[in-house]
Amino acid sequence: MPVNPAPQSVRAGVGVVVVAAGSGRRLGHGIPKARVLCGGLTLLEHALRAVLAAGIAEVVVVVLPPDDAVLADVVARAAAQGGPRILAVTGGASRTESVRSGLEALPSTLRTILVHDAARALTPPGVFHRVAAGVAAGAAAVIPVLPVVDTVKMVEGDVVTRTPDRAALRAVQTPQGFDAGALLEAHASASAEHAAATDDAMLMEARGTAVHVVDGDPLAFKVTTALDLTVAEAVLARTTTAPRAPTDPTSTSTRTRSTMYPGDRLGLPRTGIGTDVHAYAPDDAPAPLWLAGLRWEGERGLSGHSDGDVVAHAACDALFSAAGTGDLGVHFGTGRPEYAGASGRTLLAAAAGIVREAGFEIGSISVQLIGNRPVFGPRRTEAETALSDAAQAPVSISATTTDGLGLTGRGEGVAAIATAVVVASGSDPGEPDRADR
Ligand code: CTP
Ligand code: MG
Repeated sequence: MPVNPAPQSVRAGVGVVVVAAGSGRRLGHGIPKARVLCGGLTLLEHALRAVLAAGIAEVVVVVLPPDDAVLADVVARAAAQGGPRILAVTGGASRTESVRSGLEALPSTLRTILVHDAARALTPPGVFHRVAAGVAAGAAAVIPVLPVVDTVKMVEGDVVTRTPDRAALRAVQTPQGFDAGALLEAHASASAEHAAATDDAMLMEARGTAVHVVDGDPLAFKVTTALDLTVAEAVLARTTTAPRAPTDPTSTSTRTRSTMYPGDRLGLPRTGIGTDVHAYAPDDAPAPLWLAGLRWEGERGLSGHSDGDVVAHAACDALFSAAGTGDLGVHFGTGRPEYAGASGRTLLAAAAGIVREAGFEIGSISVQLIGNRPVFGPRRTEAETALSDAAQAPVSISATTTDGLGLTGRGEGVAAIATAVVVASGSDPGEPDRADR
């Protein structure tokens, strides 16, 4: 990794279109749905947090209703955070038109495009990862799905005409991922009848392109009605994260789950530990200081192959160690050039996603920073918020000095030690789901 890079995306060639231009008629708040507050933040803020927490995009285009200063400001603030490039465009009268506006604003160099509904505001990072991985593995179209729990009937007037076999039905979510060229062609050649398409996969199906499915997640539900908003608020108010989606036996998911032991099935926590140390940059090659996801103006930076954020890196290793999924070098080392130069925040978001993919939910992460500089206390809350946002789990950070002893005491560098607690989530991967008819 280059020395002291600016934070950047981890997935070159991946763009995300977030459609947020709808009116929210069914929610009935009289304002665009993306602007409706949920747990103190707009639905668009939640949706952008979810996209950024996934850490998969080089560029994000947010499609907004016309002349909406509040939502434009939300996008501008997200863009100022220093992650992927984020821009706003104005949408159209239908979802399809809005997606098209977003596609037009994307650079032509992308390999993969994900299209996501802002209304699916609480979508976990794992869904983004599964969809993006499916496209990276060669599928032209990948959509996240869940089994259908209700029996579904087709009706004409008030008479039932048919009952499709529920086992063959899936409820479809977003983000939907596509080979960039195939999606652009599908939108360019879509006929007028597709103006009313409710998702982008329909356009691919119409062209005979195979659309593959991966596991969705119940938390990726679409806020459509007042009840959905109540559910979203309840989810946000909970301290623990909801259980994972059951495994869809038809899934092409590429996720790798860790081996589960009896203690995991009993819900016992696993603990992990991580350490990182970096020397201060030499005087003849000064560098900015990045620590705990924040930039520290006027402080001496650290040398190393990354931005040297020992707090974030120790937190990543603690997570990997707890889940038994290797370490920093395995996931973000030289064999993974897409992570070259990634910021500490981006790496921690990606690490949390990998641990969740492996079948764990994160209880907490604690990090202790060891060093003489910077004086940490005044920015503790800011740092904890930045890393908790990245991990979508509570991160607490303490700081100490070593009484002048050792490399940190002599002021040669800084160190961090982290612990993490994770708990196995979801159903036993060895036990296929039974149809609940
Ligand atoms: N959408 C959009 N442009 C439109 C219509 C919809 O960008 N002209 C977006 C919505 O903002 C939402 C997603 O598409 O994120 C899914 O649409 P839906 O849930 O139907 O949202 P609304 O159209 O806003 O809601 P309603 O249909 O109840 O008016
Ligand atoms: Mg709509």
